Amino acid sequence: MKPLFVANWKMNKLQAQAEEFCKEFVEICALKEDIADIGIAPTFTAIPVVRNILSESPGIMLGAQNAHWCENGAHTGEVSPQMLAELGVEFVILGHSERRQFYGETSENVSKRAKAALSAHIKPIICIGETESEFKEGKTREVVKTQLIDSLKDLPDGNANVIIAYEPIWAIGTGLAATPEIAQNVHALVRSGLGDLYGEGVAREITILYGGSTKPNNIAELMSQKDIDGALVGGASLEPKSFAELIANGREA
Ligand code: PGA
Repeated sequence: MKPLFVANWKMNKLQAQAEEFCKEFVEICALKEDIADIGIAPTFTAIPVVRNILSESPGIMLGAQNAHWCENGAHTGEVSPQMLAELGVEFVILGHSERRQFYGETSENVSKRAKAALSAHIKPIICIGETESEFKEGKTREVVKTQLIDSLKDLPDGNANVIIAYEPIWAIGTGLAATPEIAQNVHALVRSGLGDLYGEGVAREITILYGGSTKPNNIAELMSQKDIDGALVGGASLEPKSFAELIANGREA
């Protein structure tokens, strides 16, 4: 499987800034061989402008940062997967820890969102990860396993069409990435959990991303781990040069 690097822009970039990023990024990437999959998840408002540039550059996938489970209805402030599909969105980040921590997102809802995304032909990236205090109390395995099982519970059996992102909350935006060993241990746990749910063959096909303070200078070590298949990148994805450098360093590992 090709490594996958996904930019999570969070609530950053006006349309003109998104456009400027994409133009520069596409130029840098055009010079490289096609040995990594790349995704960009802008804010909802920047999706059309990013789509217009990426449609000329088929190697880069367009994403969103959330989607509801209903197709339409009385859900003020929400966006449905069908609305995103209409814009050409190919993947959606679900259950990011910022949504779980600050906006009451639960694994049960993530599971409903993921099922609806799949039925609109949008691939879900399901985020899981423990808090700093859970990490310190040695609860990482228990927390991650529960989130994994609960976030996948509504999906059809044997469905490998999801991506999992392990993002320890204490590593997000802190500059303190998990060590490659810590990340690999959790990724192996996630892989075996997926094996229990879907069988080992399917589990091997599922991309498991690491997220949390990945940078051009620490990505190679992380990517050299057996069960780390790519990265979900926040801060380092906001500048075209640093995201391109991170991809270049990570895909060679
Ligand atoms: P970070 O964010 O790379 O800035 O730590 C990652 C994420 O939240 O997806």
